[in-house]
Amino acid sequence: MSIKTPIVILNFKTYLESSGENAFNLAKALESVATESGITMAAAPQSADIYRIRQETDIPILAQHIDPITPGGHTGSNLLECLCESGIDGTLLNHSEKRMNLADIDEIVKATKEKNIFSVVCTNNIETSVAAAILDPQFVAVEPPELIGSGIPVSQAEPEVVEGTVARVKEVNNKTKVLCGAGISTGDDVKAAMDLGASGVLLASGIILADNPKEALFDLISKI
Ligand code: G3P
Repeated sequence: MSIKTPIVILNFKTYLESSGENAFNLAKALESVATESGITMAAAPQSADIYRIRQETDIPILAQHIDPITPGGHTGSNLLECLCESGIDGTLLNHSEKRMNLADIDEIVKATKEKNIFSVVCTNNIETSVAAAILDPQFVAVEPPELIGSGIPVSQAEPEVVEGTVARVKEVNNKTKVLCGAGISTGDDVKAAMDLGASGVLLASGIILADNPKEALFDLISKI
């Protein structure tokens, strides 16, 4: 499936502030900011929260991870077919907090295409971004791990990583779009990312832990 950019993807991770009832409220905040601004605001909640958010909002929903398994005996795993039934539109893969091997990423990217959902392969630097882009996901999201959760925005602290990823990914696959993440929390951070050629951002703590997440979301998109 194709998805309109620029895109903001909020990874709910496993913060209490973005779990259960809080996940639902955060998804509602994303939906109202999307409605007012016209910008694509997507949520990547925990698996247990996907179904309810799908029932009560209209935003794109991503799984945080899909396991490279077939239906059957795999207790504790995230099955693509079940997540699709729950209502996902796409998935993150290979997040720094849930790394995968290349063959498994390839398998899941192909499987997502068959299910008509989009994939966002997370990467840690320019080289792994190029490798991921060859697998032809809709997005590669480059996130230097040392900046994740730091409050130091990748787009301002390591602009060469974002710019280099955009340039090198284009050389190998001009259909795959580049997102960036790590430490992003303000409109200036997003503007810097877009000026470097990114098609959007993937972020978490800057919004989830903000005193007023909805206000923080409005600030986030204020310079797009
Ligand atoms: O997936 C988003 C992420 O890893 C960045 O986290 O908290 O630095 O926005 P954060």
